[in-house]
Amino acid sequence: MIQGQFPLRRMRRLRKHNFSRRLVAENTLSVDDLIYPVFVLEGEQQRESVASMPGVERLSIDLLLEECQQLVALGVPMVALFPVTPQSAKSLLAEAAYDDNGLAQRAVRAIKAQYPELGVMTDVALDPFTTHGQDGILDDNGYVQNDVTTEILVEQALSHARAGADVVAPSDMMDGRIGAIREALEDYGFHNVQIMAYSAKYASAFYGPFRDAVGSAANLQGGNKHTYQMDPANTDEALHEVALDIEEGADMVMVKPGMPYLDVVQRVKAEFKVPTFAYQVSGEYAMLNAAIANGWLDKSVIHESLLAFKRAGADGILTYFAKQVAEDLQQAV
Ligand code: PBG
Repeated sequence: MIQGQFPLRRMRRLRKHNFSRRLVAENTLSVDDLIYPVFVLEGEQQRESVASMPGVERLSIDLLLEECQQLVALGVPMVALFPVTPQSAKSLLAEAAYDDNGLAQRAVRAIKAQYPELGVMTDVALDPFTTHGQDGILDDNGYVQNDVTTEILVEQALSHARAGADVVAPSDMMDGRIGAIREALEDYGFHNVQIMAYSAKYASAFYGPFRDAVGSAANLQGGNKHTYQMDPANTDEALHEVALDIEEGADMVMVKPGMPYLDVVQRVKAEFKVPTFAYQVSGEYAMLNAAIANGWLDKSVIHESLLAFKRAGADGILTYFAKQVAEDLQQAV
């Protein structure tokens, strides 16, 4: 201030007009940043809503294809598939995970046949296929065995690759699985199948609605995943995980959950400068959606929340809002 007459710098000058706000914007959200997670059901003409995720539906493959047509038209680059495995297909050794005729594999083939330009990413993890809802094979004490589980994850990833998956995304948090999967993909000629590693995946209560959506919550019987997913208290450990996954051959890394872990996103991107993604998970969707539905928050919080990921350095975001946001962005043009 000079003699209290006027402020030396008027920061508000550039904020006055829409044109200058647009010109000086440091970050933008585009449809190119979005990955849409979808839940796949057995059968035909099946459509089920998810109680804790209003607006999200589980769809049979035929209906999912219609959804994909809209996503392609909107320019959404990729879907992430999550199969809802019937109870009868679950087992202790998760054999259904690597069945070439499994639901995920059939969904990949159907989408790639009809919409080859749409990226398809698959979830490499055993929890939809185990009777106990854990992401791996248990020993006699109920501990998830690392190396035995990894062998099955490799089979699962190969079977997704055979079906035509563009990106396999291990979300299980077993040690060494990225290296094992990369080696197997190379051995079998899938040189260009990409790996998006759920590198910093925390043991989070924000996954609750997802577990309802895929039907693993009941199987888990109140159990937790603390012996393999990360402790929410840690960030250095996340950098260590990411470093290992990059070394083992991951093409892209991910932090999950999203909004409560933006510090981790920022540190990962700043440290490694590799393609870095964040997952705005089911609980985050449920939270925002519930507040919007009650009129407690304006729906502009959705765009604001996604822009926050961009600010933190994320290259892209997995979000259940992807389709809705893509529609909004298209209308805004
Ligand atoms: C399975 C998996 C989970 C999510 C993605 N893959 C759940 C879990 O680890 O229990 C959560 C996604 C979400 O909450 O939206 N390994």
